[in-house]
Amino acid sequence: MDLFEYQARDLFEKHGVPVLQGIVATTPEEAKAAAEKIGGVTVVKAQVKVGGRGKAGGVKVAKTPEEAYQYAQQILGMDIKGHTVHRVMIAQGADIAEEYYFSLLLDRANRSYLAMCSVEGGMDIETLAAERPEALAKVEVNPQEGITPAKAAEIVEAAGFAADLREDVAAVLVKLGEVYRQEDATLVEVNPLVRTGDGQILALDGKVSLDDNADFRQPEHEALVDKSAENPLEAKAKAHDLNYVKLDGQVGIVGNGAGLVMSTLDVVAYAGERHGNVKPANFLDIGGGASAEVMAAGLDIILNDEQVKSVFVNVFGGITSCDAVATGIVKALEILGDKATKPLVVRLDGNNVEEGRRILSEANHPLVHQAATMDSGADKAAELAHTA
Ligand SMILES: Nc1ncnc2c1ncn2[C@@H]1O[C@H](COP(=O)(O)OP(=O)(O)O)[C@@H](O)[C@H]1O
Ligand SMILES: [Mg+2]
Repeated sequence: MDLFEYQARDLFEKHGVPVLQGIVATTPEEAKAAAEKIGGVTVVKAQVKVGGRGKAGGVKVAKTPEEAYQYAQQILGMDIKGHTVHRVMIAQGADIAEEYYFSLLLDRANRSYLAMCSVEGGMDIETLAAERPEALAKVEVNPQEGITPAKAAEIVEAAGFAADLREDVAAVLVKLGEVYRQEDATLVEVNPLVRTGDGQILALDGKVSLDDNADFRQPEHEALVDKSAENPLEAKAKAHDLNYVKLDGQVGIVGNGAGLVMSTLDVVAYAGERHGNVKPANFLDIGGGASAEVMAAGLDIILNDEQVKSVFVNVFGGITSCDAVATGIVKALEILGDKATKPLVVRLDGNNVEEGRRILSEANHPLVHQAATMDSGADKAAELAHTA
């Protein structure tokens, strides 16, 4: 998960990285009040998860609270590279003497961390890396140790900081390394890191990506999720621990195992070409233990997708045998009751398939069509979606 700048700022503050005051506002009135509270010169900054906000007109210096009001009015609702601005951060204005660059990221290829640092910050870092690679120091960081004071000293020296600045900058890099490790980040970037007229080192812009795989040990990260940007069906699936991705089609898909679900998407897409070009509506892998509850939760999500006209349940019985899956489908339809309104094509195969098919036949649910093969099931589901 990528964070907004204001969230990165908050994390920085929590770990002792020097930052300036920042207050989030969603209206020009709130922006003005925030500027009054902060006092002096402030900067109105668009909060979107994309870089280059400054160049796009999303970062404006306001000399007075009235100006903060006007800039917030301009920036709120603005589109920056396809991202609509719903919030601004009113940041205390810094008296910038110099701008630097720092980032720490996961170097997967080398199973390590990589720190990048330059005394030529502010500008677009990709341009710097391409045009003047010698100005961007790259230093490997041992993931077991993180940024120790010795490592920080190595980085600031490699980046070419003046001797009298090195100690102060290194101290900030150690803190940024703590953010990285203690928050389970995969990226911590500060552009610009600045020196102010009175000699302070400050992080003026922060970009942080957190590793979702560590969510289980980072309960506080849940609060950082941008609920407004989440697809509601995907959010609901996530709450049920289901692997669901919304797509843009009409045939809902339920399968067990990522590989089987992927090939089901292909087969349905091919079948769709014969039936009005209908397409798969989603990816949903209900995993190995396809219990009735999981099946019900999965079907509930898919049936709530207004685009869905039919559903193809494609399950290969392995550890969970087909009779258990069939029972799961029957119970799921009971649980859903009137909410189940769209035709369901079910293809079962594998472990104990005869019993599974028998259970479905016996239940004789009006919405359920059985298919003997994956291809015929896909074809039926596509046909039903087309004629619905
Ligand atoms: N609090 C601040 N005080 C003074 N200048 C700022 C402040 N925040 C940002 N700036 C200036 O605006 C530029 C762009 O802002 P930044 O936060 O880096 O956004 P982006 O990287 O998306 O363009 C910075 O390089 C800096 O010169
Ligand atoms: Mg920046």
